Amino acid sequence: MTKKNFQRYTVTAALPYANGPVHIGHLAGAYLPADIYARYLRLRGKDVLFVCGSDEHGVPITIRAQKEGITPQQAVDKYHTMMKDSFREFGIAFDIYSRTSNATHHQTASDFFRVLYEQGDFVEQVSEQYYDEKAQQFLADRYIQGTCPVCSFPSAYGDQCENCGSTLSPAELIQPVSMLSGEKPVLKPTKHWYLPLDRYEGWLREWILEGHTEWKTNVYGQCKSWIDQGLRPRAVTRDLDWGVPLPLPDTEGKVLYVWFDAPIGYISATKDYFLGKNASSGKKEPEDEAAWEPYWKSPDTQLVHFVGKDNIVFHCIIFPVMLKAHGDFILPENVPANEFLNLEGNKISTSRNWAVWLHEYLRDFPGQQDVLRYVLTANAPETKDNDFTWKDFQARNNNELVAILGNFVNRAVVLTHKYFGGKTPSRGELTDFDRETLDKLVDFPGRIAASLEDYRFREALAHLMDLARLGNKYLADTEPWKVIKSDEERVATILNIGLQISANLAILAEPFLPSTARKLSEMLQLKTAGWNATGRPDLLPEGQTLRPAELLFEKIEDDAVEAQVRKLSDNKRQNEMVSKVLPPAKPEVVFDDFTKLDIRVATIVAAKPVPKTKKLLELTLDTGLDTRTVVSGIAEHHQPADIIGKQVCLLANLAPRDIKGIRSQGMILMAEDGDGTLSFVNPEKPIVNGGTVS
Ligand code: MF3
Ligand code: ZN
Repeated sequence: MTKKNFQRYTVTAALPYANGPVHIGHLAGAYLPADIYARYLRLRGKDVLFVCGSDEHGVPITIRAQKEGITPQQAVDKYHTMMKDSFREFGIAFDIYSRTSNATHHQTASDFFRVLYEQGDFVEQVSEQYYDEKAQQFLADRYIQGTCPVCSFPSAYGDQCENCGSTLSPAELIQPVSMLSGEKPVLKPTKHWYLPLDRYEGWLREWILEGHTEWKTNVYGQCKSWIDQGLRPRAVTRDLDWGVPLPLPDTEGKVLYVWFDAPIGYISATKDYFLGKNASSGKKEPEDEAAWEPYWKSPDTQLVHFVGKDNIVFHCIIFPVMLKAHGDFILPENVPANEFLNLEGNKISTSRNWAVWLHEYLRDFPGQQDVLRYVLTANAPETKDNDFTWKDFQARNNNELVAILGNFVNRAVVLTHKYFGGKTPSRGELTDFDRETLDKLVDFPGRIAASLEDYRFREALAHLMDLARLGNKYLADTEPWKVIKSDEERVATILNIGLQISANLAILAEPFLPSTARKLSEMLQLKTAGWNATGRPDLLPEGQTLRPAELLFEKIEDDAVEAQVRKLSDNKRQNEMVSKVLPPAKPEVVFDDFTKLDIRVATIVAAKPVPKTKKLLELTLDTGLDTRTVVSGIAEHHQPADIIGKQVCLLANLAPRDIKGIRSQGMILMAEDGDGTLSFVNPEKPIVNGGTVS
């Protein structure tokens, strides 16, 4: 496959929903590879625009806002800022990070819709949808709850049952209830606009299945399966009050479907970038208004979408159909989607708080953004789902970044200070080994570039580390710290070569580890930048003074990663409690039923296990009225020694029973936690034994 010579690059990373902070799954899935790619192209001096922004519409946003008791606008303002900060902190070097609630986007998305509408590209159709008469609005699938037709779970959503995982449609729910008002919704006809994907099937086959056989197998495979299953028209409008309003008369209460407006956000962001540029440079000439256009309209622009695998269909099929239908725009050249990153063996989940949040990482590992960038790239889910573990994180930092890259550079700089007053020494005559090493150096930039251009980021990073290994081995084999005793000139040559390799690393590492690369360049006082200089053994002029050596990486100790693992298991416990299905409510009782129960406060005065049982304790209680024995099934949750002296609540008039040959007189009240742990129900302050509970 011959590569086209592109003049210009538009690189996009999926617009993340502004409904929560950014986690490592986001970074590994789309933002890091996109950033590495964009940085690489810039280093090569290419004309590249890297755009992203917050996806601020749709039900994910309104649900979040409702949960937090704020307006959708307040919710997106909050998360937009948070996400933007996290991306900046991790060096994701967008040219612009825009947002879809802004005016440019609303205008761009409406215009896009109107063009398709006027060309007659949509199919209009009326269908019956659930409507909440009390709240006076149509209900998104997520706003309807009911009993799951598959597993009978009582609070399944209109699109999915979280208990059994079935994909549902609202009409399938038994006894649907509106989550807005709690009322039973009614079916009501409503009109929507559909993009007839089925009409583009032939074109998609040709464009993707024949024309883009070079796409990653996971991407190509998903596209093929969608196309082979037969495409159906897709609604691109919704009845919702949050989003881009439909630009048509008599369509109040309708907005563009979030998956219709969001990808147009890439175009709006591009416009915003140039608007901002004009504003800051004071330029107002008319030609500047069209400055964004080549990035979306010129056939010599390469458009690349970086996304996670759940976004493949939208970027490979739906958005291209929109672009194609519109007619003014170029199509993506590639969509190098990644698979999913799991965390310690489980799927990352925002709602279950099973994630490593970037803002928390920054607090726990300040200044160590490049370590995370390194680990997430080295272990990127490029071809299959992968697992992030804290142990691997620690091992990669300690054994690779510290022991190889950091160690090599540090040795070269420290020894130069020690033996040559910090000035890059001159190279003398070269040995065969020197020549061999320098010959190898020449190949690295090309190898790294080839991997990057094929979207094989792990492989590219592995090449970079091999270069560090080459340097490390060169110093280990030449042993300048020994040779210095006999041959200073030889050491000058060795360190010169070590420093030249370091300088190459400073440039080649920039896409992957930008802050490390910057530190290293400063330490070496490297003036040359740019990919085209790499491979050369004379990046550093002889005699130029280096800055003092500074450690690039620090060892990460066991307790730091253990604390992270502990935090995760705490979160997990928390969640299991929340997500446990609670037993159903019991039938109604009257007050008289309750007053029949004689519940008293009592103190445990003795406790011992019941022999040959796992669960039972024999307790002696002071009830104020008497001292009596109760057998209780709490042995797995409480040690006898810990509970003596505790006050508890006792159902005192329960008919006595013989349990394992012991007469038990009454029952102790226990509260059950989500994970099955039992805990005593005790009075808030000490109460006289025999005090009643009512
Ligand atoms: N917000 C979507 C998600 O997080 C991605 C939108 S990508 C875009 O899955 F192309 F629509 F912008
Ligand atoms: Zn179910």
